[in-house]
Amino acid sequence: MTLHEYDVVIVGAGGAGMRAALESSKRARTACLTKLYPTRSHTGAAQGGMAAALSNVEDDNAEWHTFDTIKGGDYLVDQDAAEILCKEAVQAVLDLENMGLPFNRTEGGTIDQRRFGGHTRNHGEAAVRRACYSADRTGHMILQTLYQQCIKQEVEFYNEYYVLDLILDKDPQGTPEGEEVSVAGVIAYELATGEIHTFRAKSVIFATGGAGKVFKTTSNAHTLTGDGMAIAFNAGLPLEDMEFFQFHPTGLAGLGILLSEAARGEGGILRNSEGERFMERYAPTIKDLAPRDMVARAMANEVREGRGCGPHKDYVLLDLTHLEPAHIDAKLPDITEFARTYLGVEPYTEPVPVYPTAHYAMGGIPTNVHGEVLRNNTDKVKGLYAAGECACVSVHGANRLGTNSLLDINVFGRRAGIAAAEHALETAEAAPLDETAAETLNSTVERLRSTVGTSEAESVADIRRELQATMDRNVQVFRDADSLQQAQKDVAALRERFTKIAIHDRGKRYNTDLLEAIELGFLLDLSEVVVLGALNREESRGGHYREDFPTRDDEKFMQHTMVYGGDDLRLDYKPVVVTRYQPMERKY
Ligand code: FUM
Repeated sequence: MTLHEYDVVIVGAGGAGMRAALESSKRARTACLTKLYPTRSHTGAAQGGMAAALSNVEDDNAEWHTFDTIKGGDYLVDQDAAEILCKEAVQAVLDLENMGLPFNRTEGGTIDQRRFGGHTRNHGEAAVRRACYSADRTGHMILQTLYQQCIKQEVEFYNEYYVLDLILDKDPQGTPEGEEVSVAGVIAYELATGEIHTFRAKSVIFATGGAGKVFKTTSNAHTLTGDGMAIAFNAGLPLEDMEFFQFHPTGLAGLGILLSEAARGEGGILRNSEGERFMERYAPTIKDLAPRDMVARAMANEVREGRGCGPHKDYVLLDLTHLEPAHIDAKLPDITEFARTYLGVEPYTEPVPVYPTAHYAMGGIPTNVHGEVLRNNTDKVKGLYAAGECACVSVHGANRLGTNSLLDINVFGRRAGIAAAEHALETAEAAPLDETAAETLNSTVERLRSTVGTSEAESVADIRRELQATMDRNVQVFRDADSLQQAQKDVAALRERFTKIAIHDRGKRYNTDLLEAIELGFLLDLSEVVVLGALNREESRGGHYREDFPTRDDEKFMQHTMVYGGDDLRLDYKPVVVTRYQPMERKY
């Protein structure tokens, strides 16, 4: 077991982690630990764009963007955070441009912008061109650009170091309110060798991404298992608003692979089996460019009312056939290739089968606008930060607008990097680190390894398959008490079976069998939290739609859910920050 010491340790090397690393490493000695090689991070799969009111192609401003973000999030957004997000958006895009990111250009040479769901001119008048983009590979370009800058700046990466534990100096739940709790470091498992490493640090930033693999049909990669959220939760920290999971309307039907909303931003139209442009009925003003929660529900509704397409009438169609092939090739090259490769459909001439796919966790580790992690409604954990999808600032509220995620990772990744480095510079000594923590983790890993060959043991793959099946069936676009109680029962039974798992590989080098067992534990932890939050929230808001409580209830539920762990899960609430926008009916 090896001990390392740094001022700042960043966990995760996607967009948020690397944006933080660029700031932090300018100021303090910084290490960036990552389960994946940095350029394999899931930011690379983000397609359509990054929102910023540049006004390059249409009149726009940060205030309209802020309003759209708050309304899009169904008034669960913390408005102070949304104001920061939208104000700092312009500089965030210019920073990337200065780093060399190849944005698409207007004829005049400025950064081009396209339409995206829920982004409007003047508080909902019409869709506005606000998303800055690089064809349909914007996330890929951001990831590559940030990585190049990190290499130039000699950020110290620990690639394929899987962080499994967060060390705090005190139990955050056992410590009275107002008393200080500080971060001490993290413990990581080196995938190439099986060795355990302890990283002591004055500041730690979690930027570990999402948890889409709690669902079967998802746009997320296999690696998106909510590690950071679950580790923080298991260390005694709360998780916020986890019941709000976004279903992206246009996953390739039956597969869940993402087809960017940019397709609709460029003029694509959703149609049902009657050829009807059904979004005209659900969102008469902005139609196919309504926010994702509304479009996903409309699609699911068309299917269940019998207007679905295909032999099983279980999807709708995304029609691009009226667009010029040259336009499709220039603006949407990757996703049209996905349709050809995975469904054998030619988007120039045939509409593409699509259905909602689990895409994004609006909830996560609670933070303030500096990225500082909260251990209850008011106290922060000294030296601990979170940014990106694993965090909940909360700028997305109950439903994130497309392109606000690439923005979030840049704005709040940067803020967390600066704050973490400044904290480290002001702190003489890292908090004392419990030396038995690494031993304990090592024993847990060894215990898992020793299950090889156990007879009558449970299989990781079976439990994962059943978990994803019940989440897909019962915690979907439409939910109710019965479906959620079923999911709760199923998850509890699967957790019990998880205590009896065995793996097949005893090896130390790249033991992916062991890795998947650990990841499954995290998925089970998070599923339990998602379902509890969803059961308890007896209203419909944003991505959380309860058929048994179909309206929004601001009186009772205009507050964030906070779930705490321990022997029994505990629920609490946190007020939403309102600055200037009172909740209104959400119509488009
Ligand atoms: O549709 C998309 O291109 C996804 C963008 C996002 O989730 O922000």
